[in-house]
Parts: sequence; structure tokens; C-alpha cells
Amino acid sequence: MKRLIPVILFVMTLVSSCQHTDPGRETDMDAKINALMSQMTLEEKIGQLNLVAVGFDVTGPIVSENVDEKIKQGYVGGVFNTFTPDVVKKMQKRALTESRLGIPLIFGYDVIHGHRTIFPIPLGLASSWDMEAIEKSAYISAQEASADGLNWVFSPMVDISRDPRWGRVSECPGEDTWYGCQVAKAMVRGYQGDDLGKDNTVMACVKHFALYGAAEAGRDYNTTDMSRLSMFQDYFPPYKAGLDAGAGSVMTSFNEINGIPATGNKWLMTELLRDQWGFDGFVVTDYTAINEMVPHGIGADEYEVGAQALEAGVDMDMVGEVFLNNLKKAVEDGKVSEKTVDIACRRILEAKYKLGLFEDPYRYVDAERAEKTIMSQEHIDAARDIACKSMVLLKNDSQVLPLKEKGAIALIGPLATNQRDMIGNWSGAGDWKKAVSVEQGIRNVAGDKVKVLYAKGANIADDEQMIQRLNAHGGNLDIDSRSSAEMIAEAVRVASKADVIVAVVGESQGMSGEAASRTDITLPGQQQALLKALKKTGKPMVLVLMNGRPLALKWEEEHADAILETWFAGTQAGNAIADVLFGHHNPSGKLTATFPQVVGQVPIYYNHKNTGRPFGGDLFDKYKTRYLDVTNEPLYPFGFGLSYTTFDYSAPVLSTTQLKKGESMKISVTVSNTGNYDGEEVVQLYIRDLVGSVTRPVKELKGFKKVFIAKGESKKVEFELTTDDLAFYHSDLTYAYEPGAFHLFIGTNSRDVKPIPFEVVE
Ligand code: NOJ
Repeated sequence: MKRLIPVILFVMTLVSSCQHTDPGRETDMDAKINALMSQMTLEEKIGQLNLVAVGFDVTGPIVSENVDEKIKQGYVGGVFNTFTPDVVKKMQKRALTESRLGIPLIFGYDVIHGHRTIFPIPLGLASSWDMEAIEKSAYISAQEASADGLNWVFSPMVDISRDPRWGRVSECPGEDTWYGCQVAKAMVRGYQGDDLGKDNTVMACVKHFALYGAAEAGRDYNTTDMSRLSMFQDYFPPYKAGLDAGAGSVMTSFNEINGIPATGNKWLMTELLRDQWGFDGFVVTDYTAINEMVPHGIGADEYEVGAQALEAGVDMDMVGEVFLNNLKKAVEDGKVSEKTVDIACRRILEAKYKLGLFEDPYRYVDAERAEKTIMSQEHIDAARDIACKSMVLLKNDSQVLPLKEKGAIALIGPLATNQRDMIGNWSGAGDWKKAVSVEQGIRNVAGDKVKVLYAKGANIADDEQMIQRLNAHGGNLDIDSRSSAEMIAEAVRVASKADVIVAVVGESQGMSGEAASRTDITLPGQQQALLKALKKTGKPMVLVLMNGRPLALKWEEEHADAILETWFAGTQAGNAIADVLFGHHNPSGKLTATFPQVVGQVPIYYNHKNTGRPFGGDLFDKYKTRYLDVTNEPLYPFGFGLSYTTFDYSAPVLSTTQLKKGESMKISVTVSNTGNYDGEEVVQLYIRDLVGSVTRPVKELKGFKKVFIAKGESKKVEFELTTDDLAFYHSDLTYAYEPGAFHLFIGTNSRDVKPIPFEVVE
């Protein structure tokens, strides 16, 4: 075993989630809050811990009632699902003028990938590998949300997930921990800017703490059971990165963690979050997550679980009103101390102070600003540009793409004229009627130069019961009155008159997101049957995919000529898709979640362990880690994505092959654009630590650079590695690098790279 060189004993990074470092201001805050709290009754303090939902987007069985009355009594600390300057102003006014102490309310909302101008779903945003673009999407969301009465967003969602059955992979940055950290930081910067006290920034909420993405079997809300080593190594860092970037709040997750629901988990929320990480913002539960501790089986009734959640470190109770209904008695009975209530109440009041709500409670309700800001041309343009950046070209045989702006296109598929699904799930206050369909986008971009022939070809899904369930939550899906055979026949007729087929296929937005797990992750319904029929026409077939998760697309990969992954690209989806299809934008997105060949390979991720019996490729070598019926390879690996141009990589040059503590290794590689288009390439750097005191993954992403290279040109791309970059958690949870042999890989994705040996020496 190698000797341990401690780099950072994982203990205590003092995080300041407070954006104001001015000590004078802190003192003002304490003075203000001390004075206020000295006047508050126990009921009013508990009231601050109560978050009610007023409006729509209900995501649980309980809804808030008698809200106006509760506001008057001082029993509400915050409101969510309520926005627009008028409505917020009215509610804020009630709190200020009709409650005894006139404490302003905090207004939160699920602003996840845009407020009214909608950007691609988070998995799509992550695929851009463009931190500036991701930050900008959050910045614009903050501009719009804060102009619309809001000051708190339930984002970023930074759960790492390796299971595409889980519907919420659509909301997360993907499977990689290090990459997830970069996204978390970019999002928090975008929302909070450099001063939470400004009226155009909003407080971020890092969620779902913790390990929600590791739900067993990919079934939402399910159990998580995991070693501490994996938690620290693979799942916790993105939450911490978001908090280190200054996020003011954290949301608990629905799942249990090794037998204790996260929402009542003191180790998680006090020992780790507060004592070790130094988080000083506030913790809100997920929707009715305290109530759900009863069915979890960790407490007999709400009285018990309420006390447990407060003691564990929860400050605010989302919708469940367990705190409101039980904490007073719990304090009177001596089950929880009033001091614990005080601490939670203080954290909520501090958040309000930091947001400037005590200075000016109406600062976020400026109708004129809302009018100017919301869906401004600048925001729409940014949404189009960012949507282009999120798309991933998965296949492009014989350069079918970009399409020529002439001739006839057979535009086929249930999503080709669709507006509803373009904005994806968790699309906040986005109005899908303002979304651009692919058909419209093609017309906008190519005008009369191309003839567009359309046929629906298939329904998105044919399972009537599933459609009813999706429609009950705004799905807007229909089942065509024609039979599948009739629809396919029409599509084939249309296709045979065209030069090229563009088939727009995939999921509907409601098939991913919360409570939208799937066990079959192939194209739903008769869409593959449609593609098979279209293939027989012999026309070149381009697939435009829309989906909120990696799909199993083995047949499609084998038979389509080109495949463009567009996720759910947002308000400007159709325009951006057309920009990419016609080559006005050269795609540069790369996957951040592995696409399996078949669902049975799940969980499948690039940074897996080697095992004691790695499969070397010999099919007759029986006793190896493998399946009998399918290879171990993914369909598309992490980091994969093509361009209309081609890039060549020189052999990387290392400044040293012996890295020492305190020194750095510089790595450079020359990337040449050898094709016919200008383009951007995401140059990726991975390492492998060959021997460790605990086993290490076969590859780990440690850096990337997204570079623009004009056709015919080359660019030198440089990276730097230090021993800090090689640190990892040990079985005693210390964090350190270990000297020894390593491999370095540089390339265009996690698969197509070659190892270059180097050594870390003492
Ligand atoms: C439940 C979801 O898990 C969470 O992400 C969301 O922020 C809340 N509901 C509020 O809508």
C-alpha cells in the first residue's frame, strides 16, 4: 500500500454562504434580528419556519390552506408558487401591514432552467460544457424571476445520477462528480451574482440533499443505501461546491440514507452540513418531506417526526405544516428546546435580511422592470444560442448533416410540430405556447428555400393509461384517431416524395422529471416501428431526438444516418434545432450521462471500477465481469459528441512525468480542425490512479477546455495538474493523494483516448 500524503483533511472548509463580508453589515443584521426576535412569540417564531404553496404546480398530496389568515397571524415565513409583481405585492403587503410584527415573506419558486424564457433542461445545459452559457442561463433566470416578485429559486439541482430510469436525470448535471461541481458553481454564480442584496439576484437552493440521484432501481423517492466512501467521493462534492460558491439555502431530499430519511438525518444536516462544511444558510425540506417520515417508518406521528427533523437541522418545512402544528407542544413538553426553534428562525430571518427584504420588502415587485425584462429579445436570443450549444450530434454518416437549404424535407414524427414539449419538465413559469416548434424553426431558418412535407407518423405514446396520467399533469398528449398502420403509411408516402427525412421523435416532457421513472427507456409507442418503415424508403434519415434522459437507441444508432440529441431545448427549441440542422450552428455538445445499449446495463457510467476480473474482449473468456447477451460497452460514452468538422489531436506533451507535491505538471496538446467547418471542441482530460489504498475508477475527469478552432487551423490547449487534483477519499474519510503510477488521457470523449503514464513521487 502506498503512503498517504494528506492534502486536505476533509474536515472543515469554512464556508461563508453569506454574500456580505462587511462585518458592519453583519452586525446590523444581528442587531436587527435580535431586536425582532425579542418581540416574537414562540408561535411567531415557528411561523417563520412555515413555507406554504399558493398557486399551482402541486407536487404532493397536501396543499396549503387558509393562507391569508395564517399570514395575518404571523404563521407563514415564505410562500412558493406565487409570482407576478401584483400578486406578490398584495401578499407581501398583507404580511407587512396585517401581521403583528410585519415581517416580510420570502418568495420562492422552481426556477430550474429558466423562469419565463426557458432554456434547455439541465441535462441539456450540462451537455454544452460551457460554463459561461450555463451561468448566463441562471443569470437571465434571476433577472426574470426577481422582476416577477421572486427572490429564491429551488435550484441548482446537483444530484449525481447513474440511472437513466430515474426521471429526474433530466434535472441533473449528469453522472460525473467533478463536472457536477463546475455546473453547481456556475449556476449559483448566475443566480446570486456577487451580491445577494441586489434586487436582480435571487437566493439559490442546492438540492436535493442528499443522494437523491442514487434511488434504488431508478424509482423516484426510493431508498438510498450507500457506503460513506461513495457518498464523499462521488455524490457529496457537487452539493458542497454549490455551497462553497455561496448558495444561501439547501433542500433536503425525499430518500432515506442508510436507514434514516435525509429530512430527519442529524448526521447529514448538522454534523456534515453545518459542523464540517460550515454552512450558515438555511435548510428547507422538500415538499411534505417531514410528514413523509411517518410512512418512512422513522416516527409514529407528525409530532415525533417534526421534533426529529428540527433537531436534525431542518429550518423550514415545505407545505407539510408539521412544524406549525406540532413544535409549540414539542417545546412545551421539553421534546425540543426553544433555542433550537430560535436557531432555525434566525436563519430564515437572516436570509430575508441578506435579500434586502427588511430594507425594502417590495424590491422584487417592480411591474415596469418585469415588463422590460421578461422574455426580452436579449433573453430570447440567449435562449436560442444556449439551446444550440446544448445539442449533441450522436451520429452523422456521409455528412448527411448539415442539411442543404434546398429540395424537399419530409418532416415526420409526433414531436415535429409540437410546442408543448419543447420547454421540458420543471419549466417554471414558461409558457409553452410561446415555444417554437421544429416545423416553425425550419420555416424561420430556411424560408422558402426548402419544401417541408409533414406527417405525424406515430403518437408519442400509445399507452392510454399512461397518457391519461401524463395529461392529468398538463401533458397535452393525444392519441390520433387513425391506426398506427395508417399513420405510418402516410409518413412513408410523404417520405418517398422528399430528398431527406427528418424524424422528430422521443419522449414527451412529462415522461421525465419528478415521479416519471421508466423501466423501458427505448423510444415509446410505435416510434421505432415508424422509423423502421421510413428506413425502407432508402431516403437518408436524420433523427432529431427529444428526451429527458439517456435512451437505449441501439437500433436507431445502427440504422439512422444522423442523430441529433436536442433534449427539450426550451422556448427557442425549433429555431435552435433548425440552426443546427442547416449548419448555421456547428454542434459542440457532449454527453454528460452515458447512453446504454440496453436498459439492463444500468447503472452504467464511465468512471466505474476495474474489478478483479475485467473483461478484455475475448468472448470465450468466461469468468470475467460481463453479460452473456450484450457487451459492456455503452452505446454512447460520457463526453461523446460529434461536430460537422473533424478534429485531430497531437500526442500530448507533459512538462514532467514525475509530479511532486507543490509542483505542477503542464500538459499541452495541439488540436487541429481538419474538416470543412469552423467549430468548437471540448478537449477532455482524464486520469487513472493505478494503485490506491482504496480502488480507483478506470478514468476520472479532471479538466476540460472548450475551444473554438477555425477550419484549417490548430490550437494549443493547455492544462495543469497538481497533486491536489489527484486527491481522493480513503476508507477513514481523510482526503489525500497517494504517490505512485498514474495514467493521463486527453481526447474528444471518455472512450477514445490512450493512456500516457506518469508518476507521482514523494
Ligand atoms: C418537489 C421536488 O422534489 C423539488 O425539487 C421541488 O423544488 C419541490 N417539489 C417544490 O416544487
